[in-house]
Amino acid sequence: MSLLHTPYAFLICLGALLGLGIQNEAPFRVPPHYSGEAQKLADPNYGPIPGLSDHYSSYWGVERPFPGNITDPVFPTCDGPPAEDDNTWQNLLSAEWIIFEFYQQGIESFTDEDFVRIGMPNNTRQRLMEIRNNEAGHLRIFQNQISPTSIKPGPCKYNFPLRDPLSYLAFMSVLEISSMAFLTGLVQEAKSVQAQGAMAAISQTETRHEIWALTEIWKVNPFAGPADTVFPYANQILYSTHNLIIPGSCPPENPEYPYPRQLLPGLSAAPDTKSLAPGATITLDFPDKENQPEFDPDTQYYAVFFHSVLNTSVPIDTKGFPKRPITVTIPEVFETRGVIVALIADEAGAPTKESVVAGPAVILEQPVELGPKLVSGGAS
Ligand SMILES: *[C@@H]1O[C@H](CO)[C@@H](O)[C@H](O)[C@H]1NC(C)=O
Ligand SMILES: *[C@@H]1O[C@H](CO)[C@@H](O)[C@H](O)[C@H]1NC(C)=O
Ligand SMILES: *[C@@H]1O[C@H](CO)[C@@H](O)[C@H](O)[C@H]1NC(C)=O
Repeated sequence: MSLLHTPYAFLICLGALLGLGIQNEAPFRVPPHYSGEAQKLADPNYGPIPGLSDHYSSYWGVERPFPGNITDPVFPTCDGPPAEDDNTWQNLLSAEWIIFEFYQQGIESFTDEDFVRIGMPNNTRQRLMEIRNNEAGHLRIFQNQISPTSIKPGPCKYNFPLRDPLSYLAFMSVLEISSMAFLTGLVQEAKSVQAQGAMAAISQTETRHEIWALTEIWKVNPFAGPADTVFPYANQILYSTHNLIIPGSCPPENPEYPYPRQLLPGLSAAPDTKSLAPGATITLDFPDKENQPEFDPDTQYYAVFFHSVLNTSVPIDTKGFPKRPITVTIPEVFETRGVIVALIADEAGAPTKESVVAGPAVILEQPVELGPKLVSGGAS
């Protein structure tokens, strides 16, 4: 039993006081519509500790593993300014709730036999449980990284493509590789080197999940070439997941997700796309009818493709849009592996986040056949 268990708020604030010298112990300000149970999570020693407990690997229950079973936001326990990386960890925690819930709902929706019936290994659901447990560990790690002066966001309600086990597994592959790609961006936002190291370690775990799917589920070569894709504007990828969140379902106290955000129009390939491999010519689609891009007639726009540590820009003809659809050829020079992140910008190379006018879209290149399936299934 840890000393930190009982008067945890006081001790955490004391720690903060010793560390920073600026924070005061604050009374709990938990709104009355919450039980207050979630405040126990303010103590990083409450419950199984990631790295010390096998709960985050080998818990085999169907019920939500800790801390996924405690869904209220955790309110600040100290007064004071936020720590320098709180905002980045809050974005990451909100994104992690989406990923955790995706696995949790898959485990609740499908049986072992559902996966065996479509030709998948008989331990598929068990592996998904293990991944879910890792994601629960990420929830706990991210909660603990947010300082006691900032709120730790709770989950919203989500709408996932859970129609059948095959499209579920396809979506899983894109989710894992997208996680890897936004972590390469979030790591650039983090100010402390400790946070940068922790984010790099988390992205390795997402990669291990992806490797499992590539070798065991899709039975393809798992290597993505010498480097995975670096994409600097992480919040743009995070915002592109907003269509998974049921509007109005988030705890009202949660910080805006992601913060800051640009509310960019979403980007996709047209639903009838046959190939998303390098060299394929595709028609661009902006699926959100309420949020369409507006193109200035005197500006040259580019489709910018990020792959590995490089990016390539292709000028696009936006005249006559939306009556005339926009087409673009995915650069043939790219190796058909890993992932391509594509966006529309008003400058070649999209050198600033403000130069981006639509997107990004995460295009799965491995297995390359899954890319068009995800587009036509609306699962992106
Ligand atoms: C959450 O899960 C943990 C670990 O399985 C368990 O000890 C705890 O009682 C659960 N809490 C709630 C509120 O369900
Ligand atoms: C699961 O699959 C493995 C490998 O194909 C096989 O050796 C094992 O007997 C199977 N187990 C069950 C319970 O079917
Ligand atoms: C894309 O590549 C160009 C040329 O190497 C570089 O100047 C630019 O900063 C890159 N864009 C991003 C967003 O990294």
